[in-house]
Amino acid sequence: MSPKLEKFVDRLPIMEPFTPQKENEHGAYYEVSMEQFRQKLHRDLRPTLLWGYNRQFPGPLFDVKQGEAVRVKWINNLPKSHLLPVDKSIVDAKLPEVRTVTHLHGGETPPESDGYPEAWFTNGYNEVGPFFKRKVYEYHNQQRATMLWYHDHTMGVTRLNNYAGLSGAYIIRDQHEKSLNLPTDQYEIPLIIQDRSFNQDGSLSYPKQPDDASDNLPNPSVVPAFLGDTLLVNGKVWPYLEVEPRKYRFRILNASNTRGYQLSIDSGQSFYQIGSDGGLLSKTVKMNTIQMEPSERIDVIIDFSKQEGKNIILKNELGPNAESNDRTDEVMQFKVIKPLSNRKNNAIPKHLSNIPSLKNNRISAMRILKLGGSTDEFGRPLLLLNDKKWNERVEEKPRLGTTEIWSFLNTTGFTHPMHIHLIQFQILDRQTFDLDRYNSDGKIVYTNSPTAPKSNERGWKDTVAAPSAQITRVIAKFAPYTGNYVWHCHILEHEDHDMMRPFTVIDDNDKRK
Ligand code: C2O
Ligand code: CU
Ligand code: CU
Repeated sequence: MSPKLEKFVDRLPIMEPFTPQKENEHGAYYEVSMEQFRQKLHRDLRPTLLWGYNRQFPGPLFDVKQGEAVRVKWINNLPKSHLLPVDKSIVDAKLPEVRTVTHLHGGETPPESDGYPEAWFTNGYNEVGPFFKRKVYEYHNQQRATMLWYHDHTMGVTRLNNYAGLSGAYIIRDQHEKSLNLPTDQYEIPLIIQDRSFNQDGSLSYPKQPDDASDNLPNPSVVPAFLGDTLLVNGKVWPYLEVEPRKYRFRILNASNTRGYQLSIDSGQSFYQIGSDGGLLSKTVKMNTIQMEPSERIDVIIDFSKQEGKNIILKNELGPNAESNDRTDEVMQFKVIKPLSNRKNNAIPKHLSNIPSLKNNRISAMRILKLGGSTDEFGRPLLLLNDKKWNERVEEKPRLGTTEIWSFLNTTGFTHPMHIHLIQFQILDRQTFDLDRYNSDGKIVYTNSPTAPKSNERGWKDTVAAPSAQITRVIAKFAPYTGNYVWHCHILEHEDHDMMRPFTVIDDNDKRK
């Protein structure tokens, strides 16, 4: 258990946009160095040893324009050994290198720059083979305006590298969004929510996972997961933000390993949700609570104009089974004590953007993708996609430019946030089925008619909550690049324990594949 840290004593850190090292005819060029450093995460906590991009946790905030490509040199300057216990498999290989590779989540990125899990590079300490300490990636930024995020995606250690601090936000802006008169500048604030646990000395605490030592398992029957007992926003434990009595725009990201949130505001106000993973919704929806699985983003307006003088808490509604000493029921606090500096208020537009439905496209393939449990040769729990491990043959090969429906058939007992690289999809529906029947004879017997996605899920998404005993259907057009990508559960402990699979977008004319 972490030290009991007082809530709402530290100010929320506001991330300043990152300025490029240089700009030339190829666009902006950034250099990002991954390093180990210490950062103070709470008034009463000794500085925590972390891994971060440019010695920041979260990493620097990219703020780029649609249509303007950028290049980023990602450099691995991490120390010789891992901050957290590494997988036995990596230690066994006698390669003590520290592996990293960065992925821009939600990005329409060419495959060479997507951060393929096996495209990791080292800190240069691997003496046996060719090693690369750095990689220059290109991001084309042709897609809709939205907030993406970048994070480590290294095969088998994604959960550890992220937990150590390797993640940050990436905003793409466009002209249309500008025309909507949404709150901007100091009234537009990204919020990155994460959970962590700490030791008394301020260091990160992360439990041994089942694959750390096959002969000495903490509890082999438990599926890997991590829930920290302390919540952070923008790298501070339970912070507060002083606000004016006006509307603010918050772009919220759940960058936690496993934890999902059920956000609400304790003053009884609603959120006005204007965007999801892939940008603006078609119209603003009023939400009292918003579910956020790992990696989901929401774009919301909170109106403090009638709350002058009040302290308002962003809550995380815990389920009925929560323990009474669980302090994760609160995320951060807003103190409405700043004087109104600008009389001009923003409107909340009803209509936000056009979202053409993909349903009318010709459907080239419908795939049923099973999310299921299994065990490895030592009896340790694994979660698999379509009963396949990572390194088995690629099965999903959409042709470039075609539209497919992917149905996530969840045969496990809990929700998995499913993510597909390269594309943004639309959620079609969810339908419950009889899990016992499926487990006994493999038949899908529906127990209900399909239900439409929630009103705030009717925009572009790259991550979808696929609940237990339901089939969650999404539709996507596979473009604009061919090449190797991945799809996976975004609970990082699941992803690392084989809930990830490759897919390849193939050229339409290449009939041999
Ligand atoms: Cu945010 Cu493949 O990941
Ligand atoms: Cu991704
Ligand atoms: Cu999962």
